Amino acid sequence: CGIVGYVGDRSAQGVVIDGLRRLEYRGYDSAGIALIAADGALAVDKKAGKLANLEKAIADSPLPAATTGIGHTRWATHGGPTDGNAHPHLGRTGRVAVVHNGIIENFAELRASLEQAGHEFGSQTDTEVAAHLLEREVADGADLTVAMQRVCSQLEGAFTFVAVDAHDPDRVVAARRNSPLVVGLGEGESFLGSDVAAFIEHTREALELDQDQVVTITRAGAKVSNFDGSAAEGRPFHIDWDLSAAEKDGHDWFMRKEILEQPRAVADSLLGRRTPSGSLHLDEMRLDDDELREVTKIIIIAAGTSFYAGMVAKYAIEHWCRISVEVELASEFRYRDPILDNSTLVVAISQSGETADTLQAIRHARSQRSKVLAICNTNGSTIPRESDAVIYTHAGPEIGVASTKGYLTQLVACYLLALYLAQVKGTMYGDEVDGVMTQLEAMPEAVAQTLETAPQVYELAREYADRRAFLFLGRHAGYPVALEGALKLKELAYLHAEGFAAGELKHGPIALVEEGLPIWCIVPPRGRDFLHDKMRSGIMEVRARGARTIALVEEGDDSVDSVSDSIIRLPRVPVLLQPLVAVVPLQLFACQLATELGLDVDQPRNLAKSVTVE
Ligand code: G6P
Repeated sequence: CGIVGYVGDRSAQGVVIDGLRRLEYRGYDSAGIALIAADGALAVDKKAGKLANLEKAIADSPLPAATTGIGHTRWATHGGPTDGNAHPHLGRTGRVAVVHNGIIENFAELRASLEQAGHEFGSQTDTEVAAHLLEREVADGADLTVAMQRVCSQLEGAFTFVAVDAHDPDRVVAARRNSPLVVGLGEGESFLGSDVAAFIEHTREALELDQDQVVTITRAGAKVSNFDGSAAEGRPFHIDWDLSAAEKDGHDWFMRKEILEQPRAVADSLLGRRTPSGSLHLDEMRLDDDELREVTKIIIIAAGTSFYAGMVAKYAIEHWCRISVEVELASEFRYRDPILDNSTLVVAISQSGETADTLQAIRHARSQRSKVLAICNTNGSTIPRESDAVIYTHAGPEIGVASTKGYLTQLVACYLLALYLAQVKGTMYGDEVDGVMTQLEAMPEAVAQTLETAPQVYELAREYADRRAFLFLGRHAGYPVALEGALKLKELAYLHAEGFAAGELKHGPIALVEEGLPIWCIVPPRGRDFLHDKMRSGIMEVRARGARTIALVEEGDDSVDSVSDSIIRLPRVPVLLQPLVAVVPLQLFACQLATELGLDVDQPRNLAKSVTVE
């Protein structure tokens, strides 16, 4: 869910709706707003469906002028996406309004005791219980900040709240436990958001909070406290994201724009990583070299697209550093009782830095004395804050729900980490590290060249727009690319799409192949003849069974031309770096195919970009 709060001199409605629009990628099942009007009255509107529905409702029956407000855009977990379940929720007399992200686990008991005391509830939501509790506290004379501290101390679960009290129109109070919240500090105005995108157009100064904290914003700034009432400090940080990166800039979709931004994103993620003497330097690395030398095993944990970046990292780290690497889905990790100790380095990859599965996994790892390094795109988010070290990717804000530039920059960070470990452990000579860095620095250009295949890929999307199933085959570092290509089609076009390791085909998946089934084949570079030739055999096998083969193959390699129905040429790059280029046509294909089908590419059904519940 996305959450916004504002106090200042502008129209709170404008600020809140704009903030929600920028956070809509976090959920778009319903949206709502609460404003405290100049006369102290609380005005609320909320609607099921996308933000546009709420905007239309407000246009039809305008809300009063106000300079204090809160808003919410929801990704439904419990309770369907109806007007009634939409946030904000109100207390008993309509004095307090609350928006909420997360789950209050003990709400049933709290609700039962409120009901015994005569409270009536209009919805089944846990949020309404919080609204009633807050209102009871303020009715008893507490100010909203103290009310929030007291209420949060009684709650179990994970939550972010943002609340207003109609009797106290110049403050907005928020709280967090294991759910995202950042503060924006302007001149004479203050903001709250699930992430900085909510207020990036108004201020670049932000405050990061810890768990179990309450923050009160007023025109004068922010005051932070702990749930027990003691004073606390947030960590100030500056947002260096370019605002234009959060605009569509004339493109039909954020996703298409973000695909096209990839050469720049890759270049930005490589910037400043080499010292004048040529060695590799990661300035956010808070683990010292001795600690890294002691690492005997690496476990990479992530979800979704980030997981596939982790799979590529395994190939690079094992090859360059000779350390064994496991890659594990964050949601599975801690439930299998993994073997962890202080010589295990856990690498958590997360674009948003807020994915609950990944966050819980790193907490488990740290409780077992393992060191945790985060690869993350979002400053101010929770996962880097709770890790021992972090490598930031520099993709800028990623708005399209399906990750593209986030993924490419994660790959870059993984390569940097692998090279850094190789340098520290001495498994590569300095000039070898240098050589790979030079190859990496050529990748923005290679990605740009790959983008030139777009017209050809779009033509394929039109040709295959009526198909309901696709396969993707790859080997070695091309295997995770096949999985990512398939995920993109599932996410955007709602099609059955599967990625397989080409060598595994004969052990089952080949039974899926039938006349006309389109199969994308990621052909490894020629330098690895063994892999390359096996892949060629795989293509021949599926083609012999009637598949339509689309080969992604490096320029100068015509060895699969005779067994391919279509050929997309990739620039020549080293085998371990090939995912950086090979995934690009697959991203373009999924984006275009979904467009051909008339689907919403940026907000695919049922998905949210940042999933802050387990
Ligand atoms: C969600 C998104 C995916 C994303 C995954 C992991 O499921 O829809 O696109 O890959 O979360 O997100 P993270 O922010 O942790 O990389």
